[in-house]
Amino acid sequence: MSYSIGILVGSLRKDSFSKKIALAISKKLPEDFEGKLIDISRLALFNQDLEAEPPQEWLDFREEVKSSDGVLFVTPEYNRSIPAVLKNALDVASRPYGQGAWQGKPGAIASSSPGKIGGFGASQHLRQAAVCVGLEVMGSPEFYLGGVHEILDGNGDVSGAY
Ligand code: FNR
Repeated sequence: MSYSIGILVGSLRKDSFSKKIALAISKKLPEDFEGKLIDISRLALFNQDLEAEPPQEWLDFREEVKSSDGVLFVTPEYNRSIPAVLKNALDVASRPYGQGAWQGKPGAIASSSPGKIGGFGASQHLRQAAVCVGLEVMGSPEFYLGGVHEILDGNGDVSGAY
């Protein structure tokens, strides 16, 4: 039996630290877990007017979430909250009302920042919304990685004591 973990990265930046951390975590998953990045960059901004005829990328995204056994969010912090692109993804897959793709799915959150508090504010905001959409968010272990820019080597791998 193999478990598929959908990984959502809260940054669209080409050299995103969050993406590097997501890939580093993915490499460390146990053998029977497979991490797959789910692209959230092309999702149209959520607009309730589009719900009657949702854009194809919304439908594809919802299916990708549904087909994952669990999801991992790896996010930076923007202004003590989560980047809009990640909130948009949460909203898109939370609908149609009562049939959201997140419902009952195991979820985990990892935040990081070059700053010292490791995106704690983003993580807490994300937890609030994730619980609201029905994700079964792990309470522990907690993951707030400060000084992220100092721990990645040239290959994007996590170095040293980590
Ligand atoms: C930031 N950054 C930031 N960092 C932090 O620790 N707390 C914060 O509230 C914010 N706010 C914030 C807002 C905006 C609009 C930007 C662009 C940046 C800095 C942020 O942690 C840094 O740019 C990271 O490198 C972004 O993550 P990625 O893109 O490297 O994954």
